[in-house]
Amino acid sequence: MSVVKKEYKRITVKSLVEMKQNGEKISMLTAYDYSMAKIVDAANIDAILVGDSASNVMAGHETTLPITLDQMIYHASSVVRAAKRALVVVDIPFGSYQSDSKEALRSAIRIMKESGAHAIKVEGGSEIKESVGRILQAGIPVMGHLGLTPQSIYKFGTYTVRAKEEEEAQKLKDDAKLLEELGCFAIVLEKIPAKLAKEVAESVSIPIIGIGAGGHVDGQVLVVHDMLGMTHEFHPRFLRRYLNLYDEMSNAISQYVADVKSKDFPNDEESY
Ligand code: KIV
Repeated sequence: MSVVKKEYKRITVKSLVEMKQNGEKISMLTAYDYSMAKIVDAANIDAILVGDSASNVMAGHETTLPITLDQMIYHASSVVRAAKRALVVVDIPFGSYQSDSKEALRSAIRIMKESGAHAIKVEGGSEIKESVGRILQAGIPVMGHLGLTPQSIYKFGTYTVRAKEEEEAQKLKDDAKLLEELGCFAIVLEKIPAKLAKEVAESVSIPIIGIGAGGHVDGQVLVVHDMLGMTHEFHPRFLRRYLNLYDEMSNAISQYVADVKSKDFPNDEESY
């Protein structure tokens, strides 16, 4: 398939669907603060995900469950101020959409109104059908998330590959179809067999963005701290590291400490 690469000044949910139609792969990374989002946006990323992985990488929690709606809005508004080209998608955190669809809509509205983001992301399929429908009816673009859904980690028990068995794979395919029918503009598929991800990507018209879902999907997303090598203790098979920032930063900081201790810093030129 030949790839038509169009220039976009501002990426919208429609641009992502168009990219799928044109065979252009979609690039997505997470960001949670202004400075990182500025770098990511300037590098021409198509979409920035203000993921609830902020709970892990920014706050040091073991899971994504503790992060609150207020905290997600704080991270999202910092990212929105930096993003001049990228579409900004924000995770609705655990506990702010599961009770009922009205609560889900209220949370989605708060994210859109208070952060200025362009879309929200929810984890799950048929279980949250009503909530997804209600949010979409209010004119808020929704990205789905299936496969390994970290908000359900205590149900799964482990972070291993999902949907290897036929029953779970079939439910995932049905959920992807359902999210498309409801009107979601894209779906993230996390940590599932590449063959299944390919099948899903070919069966729906909306973009499928993978993380640990192989190369036969419409785009890729990674946690920016992981691909930059800041989280050096985390090395799943799907992760490609583009830098070893943990070591680079540690060396720089150790050098600073040594320079202060030895009175090398500041020197005369660095003084007024
Ligand atoms: O929260 C997050 O960063 C995510 C990605 C891993 C897709 O949901």
